[in-house]
Amino acid sequence: MMFLSAVLPAFLLTAVVSGAPIHRRAANPNDVLVFQFADVLERLETEFYSQALAKFQDADFVSAGFGNTAIPKELFSTIAGDEAAHTSIIDSTLVSLGAEPITSCKFDFGDALKDVATMAATARVIENVGVSAYLGGANLLVDKELLVAAASIMTIEARHQSLLNILNSATSIPSAFDIALSPSQVLAIAGGFISGCDLGIPANPALKITNTGVPVPGTKLTFESTGIPSGVDTSTLTCQMMTGGSAFALALPFDNCVVPNINGPVYIFVVNATQPLLNSQVNQATGTILAGPAPAFIDSIPETLGQVVKAAPRAVASTTTISGAEATGLFNAADPANQSLAPSATSDASTATATSSAAESTSTGSPITVLGWSTTSGTTSGDSPSSY
Ligand SMILES: *[C@@H]1O[C@H](CO)[C@@H](O)[C@H](O)[C@H]1NC(C)=O
Ligand SMILES: *[C@@H]1O[C@H](CO)[C@@H](O)[C@H](O)[C@H]1NC(C)=O
Repeated sequence: MMFLSAVLPAFLLTAVVSGAPIHRRAANPNDVLVFQFADVLERLETEFYSQALAKFQDADFVSAGFGNTAIPKELFSTIAGDEAAHTSIIDSTLVSLGAEPITSCKFDFGDALKDVATMAATARVIENVGVSAYLGGANLLVDKELLVAAASIMTIEARHQSLLNILNSATSIPSAFDIALSPSQVLAIAGGFISGCDLGIPANPALKITNTGVPVPGTKLTFESTGIPSGVDTSTLTCQMMTGGSAFALALPFDNCVVPNINGPVYIFVVNATQPLLNSQVNQATGTILAGPAPAFIDSIPETLGQVVKAAPRAVASTTTISGAEATGLFNAADPANQSLAPSATSDASTATATSSAAESTSTGSPITVLGWSTTSGTTSGDSPSSY
């Protein structure tokens, strides 16, 4: 428990950790739900890093390309300690709200822990989704004190995210903006690791990217999901790519879902509409989402820091089969510089719909990929529940 005092804001220490029942109005059910959900995600993270640290030895880090194994080992230990501290404080907070943490979840990481490279790639997804989950939770939290407390955790998850980018030889801060996800959207990604508990939150169907190899600008993505009915006329569907800072997603034909010229994280949805999804947890038309999001990292800009920490075979943009101008054209309409961060509910985003005649790329990048890991892990149990 010692580390708590180093991590937590003073108001939380006095209000929550002291164990003194703080005087509160009856807890808002949304606040309880968000904190219970955050608690489960923190437990997932804690368990993930604890299993990873127990399993991997120096030689495993060397095989993954780390020249100095002290670097990843120190950083993964620090991150693991933070996640454990988050779990403790959220547990205490729930009790102070007169609620209970959900402790019955089982976490199965399957192949995500098969080697250090896959573990680090998965950790990168987990931290990115963690940031998105706290951002989306901010929309639901009512109590301002809880909002600030959650934000004080979120900023730490964002630091983990930067470190994981570096540990994966990618751009440390690929975007000036992060992306909020709703709890149901978070579960489309994290749900495959979770079983045995009822969170009272319906999960979006997981979306698995079925391409082999690492996607780069120009790669045409293919998908699999229980949310896409078999035999459906896919020409009526769009694949929609949400990036940080864009007011709405880039909507592409489902059958021609070509990665544009971007760098960094993107969340990909399959939508039964051509209207681009708003990048807003307040106004998004979630009813048209059939599956996802699937998380992907498009690593098209090398950064020296990551190259120093880890020698990695990287997916190079030269495997792209569409021209830079073509890819840029695809993405112009979704250019953050053309947009506002707070789109109105009525904003007409239809101009973002773009089509492309780009040919399928043959990516020859390293086969390490965690895209679709949620469904991969889900198939081990046979029946992936649609609600947690
Ligand atoms: C897509 O939306 C249309 C119109 O609302 C509806 O008729 C159709 O069943 C939907 N398709 C899927 C696969 O959900
Ligand atoms: C905005 O969109 C237009 C066309 O839709 C494009 O020409 C332009 O380059 C985009 N970006 C900026 C920064 O204006």
